[in-house]
Amino acid sequence: MPEENTFIMVKPDGVERGLVGDVISRFERKGLELRQIRHLNIDEDLARTHYAEHVEKGFFPELLEFITSGPVVAMEWAGESAVSVARTIMGATDPKQAAPGTIRGDLGLAVTQNIVHGSDSTESAERELKIFFG
Ligand code: RTP
Ligand code: MG
Repeated sequence: MPEENTFIMVKPDGVERGLVGDVISRFERKGLELRQIRHLNIDEDLARTHYAEHVEKGFFPELLEFITSGPVVAMEWAGESAVSVARTIMGATDPKQAAPGTIRGDLGLAVTQNIVHGSDSTESAERELKIFFG
């Protein structure tokens, strides 16, 4: 099984609600390893770079306002198949459809304010880790 690194971020709603510890705990208990962590505010330029694939979408203005609305906690996690394992722990994009036992399924209700971001492929992970950790 491949050892991978992935980029995970607690979004402004998760930080505001005090869910950082819960999110970290779920990844730790699964067996993934925390490699890097930083607390920062995302400005418009960074949001457009990170979410480049969504800039032209109808929901982007709402996503931009949300993701720049308060601090986030950006992290690098490592482990076997870390990219897909992290996505499974997070649950479906829309928390209303996310399975119980997942972060979004247990803790969220709105599609924009869905608590956590995770890279969707090893290529995305490499790109996103470079953006946030250089
Ligand atoms: P993420 O990139 O944040 O890990 O989420 P994801 O892969 O599950 O979903 P993605 O399609 O990449 O969408 C990025 C984020 O945009 C917001 N969104 N809003 N209103 C809408 O229809 C809508 N669709 C997506 C969510 O915050 C989603 O996580
Ligand atoms: Mg995505």
